[in-house]
Amino acid sequence: MAANATPPNADAQTGGPLHVAIVMDGNGRWAKKRGLPRTLGHRAGVEALKRTVSAAPKLGSGWLTVFGFSTENWSRPAAEVSELMALPKRFFESDLGRLEREGVRVRVLGRRQGLSADLLRMLDEAEARTRHNDHFNLNIAFNYGGQADIADAARRFAEDVAAGRRRPEDMAEAMFASHLATSGSPPPDLIVRPSGEQRLSNFLLWEAAYSEFVFQDVLWPDYGEDHLRAALQVFAGRDRRYGAVTADDVLAAG
Ligand code: FPP
Repeated sequence: MAANATPPNADAQTGGPLHVAIVMDGNGRWAKKRGLPRTLGHRAGVEALKRTVSAAPKLGSGWLTVFGFSTENWSRPAAEVSELMALPKRFFESDLGRLEREGVRVRVLGRRQGLSADLLRMLDEAEARTRHNDHFNLNIAFNYGGQADIADAARRFAEDVAAGRRRPEDMAEAMFASHLATSGSPPPDLIVRPSGEQRLSNFLLWEAAYSEFVFQDVLWPDYGEDHLRAALQVFAGRDRRYGAVTADDVLAAG
């Protein structure tokens, strides 16, 4: 590869490492197909997350953002909510040491209100122990909703204006983005949704402005390296124009 060529799976425009975001969907259907309780589908989903986090850096991705619990998931039955709340512990108890050693920086996106003190301690510990890592970035959206995050960002900016720290005319796209939970992460290049559903479900609404979408017909608990590779192959064939035209289009138009 020439010294200045874009590395495989890097963003063709920025040359930066690829950011993949995943709506981890299909745990319930996976369990139902096997006659198992939904709980076991979610637990199998944690194993799929572990496989995907290990695969992503090998496949050239530098950022992975996963949707673990949405602000709307509170409306599920209490027993299921309580199982979903236990998943980060299940994940970090087995994998935090490895993430720390392998240079993965963990960030948790979402509202902290409503989460138990124990869970908050665990999430804070994961962020603190990996803060200095820079090999790979794992964002876990937990108690996250795109609309809630946009509303929170607007409120924080309004508070800054009320306190005299900002003026209304300071508001612009970059300023708004800096108030979002994803501030510091590049926007996702690719948003993947397995399970056959084709919706965003309130995930990364602002950030998805120019994301490519790949929908895959596999339930999340079965997901792994081969599925991520396949999604990245589809992505590599996409023509991203960010609202502009290519040099070829200009030439063809004469
Ligand atoms: C949606 O599937 C999935 C969820 C609500 C939970 C996803 C979470 C994980 C896979 C693990 C999270 C791990 C951490 C560390 C946060 P669904 O239950 O809606 O499936 P269905 O549509 O088939 O019913």
